[in-house]
Amino acid sequence: MVTNHAPWHRGAVGYEVYVRSFADASGDGIGDLEGVRRHLDHLVWLGVDAVWITPFYPSGGFDAGYDVTDYTAVSAQHGTLEDFDRLIDEAHQRGLRVLVDIVPNHSSHLHPWFQAAVEDPDGQYRDYYIWRDPKPDGSPPNNWVSHFGGPAWTLEPRSGQYYLHLFLPEQPDLNWTNPAVRREFEQILRFWCKRGVDGFRVDVAYGVAKDPEFRDNPQLMPITYAMEPNEVFEAFDHLHDIEQDHNLEVFEEWRSIASEYDVLLIAEVRTDDPDRASRYTAAGTAFDLVFYLWPGWAPWDPALLVSRTRAMCDRCRDGVAWVLDNHDQSRSVSRYGGGEVGRQRSLAMMTLLASLGGMPFIYQGQELGLEDGQVATADLADPVATRNAGATGRDGSRTVMPWDDGPNNGFGPVTPWLNATTRPPADTVAEQRKRPGSPLSIHRRLLEVRRDHPDIWQEPIQWLESEPTTAALRRGEVVVVANLGPESAEVELGGPGWKVTFTSWQGSVARVDGDRLLVPMETTVILTRG
Ligand code: NOJ
Repeated sequence: MVTNHAPWHRGAVGYEVYVRSFADASGDGIGDLEGVRRHLDHLVWLGVDAVWITPFYPSGGFDAGYDVTDYTAVSAQHGTLEDFDRLIDEAHQRGLRVLVDIVPNHSSHLHPWFQAAVEDPDGQYRDYYIWRDPKPDGSPPNNWVSHFGGPAWTLEPRSGQYYLHLFLPEQPDLNWTNPAVRREFEQILRFWCKRGVDGFRVDVAYGVAKDPEFRDNPQLMPITYAMEPNEVFEAFDHLHDIEQDHNLEVFEEWRSIASEYDVLLIAEVRTDDPDRASRYTAAGTAFDLVFYLWPGWAPWDPALLVSRTRAMCDRCRDGVAWVLDNHDQSRSVSRYGGGEVGRQRSLAMMTLLASLGGMPFIYQGQELGLEDGQVATADLADPVATRNAGATGRDGSRTVMPWDDGPNNGFGPVTPWLNATTRPPADTVAEQRKRPGSPLSIHRRLLEVRRDHPDIWQEPIQWLESEPTTAALRRGEVVVVANLGPESAEVELGGPGWKVTFTSWQGSVARVDGDRLLVPMETTVILTRG
């Protein structure tokens, strides 16, 4: 575990718990905080330092918890505040930090603020949200589109005005130009800080500020019926709705609260451009880390993975929270081709990300080398899939954590909220713990090597010469070579004495010959010296 030097997250590894699907202790088919508590020892055994728990607040239930109706409570589905306190206590006793999700861009439409804003257009809550009159022809005020399909505006019939929602109509965007909204969130932050959280993962941090003039976004290509919601979203140049420079002003205010309680702030950003992404941490006045999501959705393209990852690392150094898998994207093993090939590639990439500084995150089940779960069409739950005919949706990465080969893979006693094909024993924690060479054992070993050789996260990075499909770097007495290409790669180590301490895939054998290293295809190795 990481020692108590400030800032505590230097050298730490995070783990994302998607609370609905981690473990169901109450027996209602939905994962809960008590389920997380009961499995803390898995996280300690794996060797992570911090756990990020996705929203467990009361919610309208339209976007799996990301539509909050009360920011300072625990949903009955997920437990109680007492469960939360106990979870924090027991995590801290084990040396684990706890990060919670906070959702400032939008609330639920069922939040009392929005209900009041609709009820009383002249009241104090109206301006908590973003309202605009229709265009003269009755159409929405501008051409912005929702991430989840359709326009980003919905007409509220009573007042005849449209309200803005960058996500579902059930997720109205809050108006961050209103100082009252800012004060509300200061109270919310303090509430959780006082309860002992160690940090916040800030949902849609890239979206809170909007263009003051609400100008149209330039359209880059025609929109067709065959396009998925994210393709429609990408058909626009998002100059005016997201990634605005004045996003940071909001979070500069949060910084002072975070510093008061010594908690971490991690921004979710959407841009894949390292320059834009790095602004969130650059000044040191807003965020500690920026969740860089691009590796989490990029397909297997070795040269691009190497160049983009390297660019982000060079641009943002210790400020990156690296993500390979999360609850919004197809799992890396599936994206990278599935089966053993996908697993080998996922581990090669994860090993690279774990060697770049910043804070790498593992998403529940990633450590097991899971492919996407199989959900029948009738059981799909994600609104991206259920509201957009033929869209892929996010359910594949959200199926329950397979703990063992008991009923429901040990998730809980009843059919889970997201019904899916049961995982085979080889995919479970129980089986993989016993098997050296399982993805679980390899991930655990990777984290152990990071702890044993802190040079890997704290020494300056010196890039070594390599093919475009290989990333090779030296940090103090550690060399990491990620050969993502389809052939073996040879790298000049610049001196003798190196030995292979870690290989990302069991079937691969890397050879050191004097000051040269030969790495097999799609494998990352860690060499140490001394
Ligand atoms: C990002 C979250 O990860 C995703 O699950 C959610 O749907 C959106 N933000 C909207 O809150």
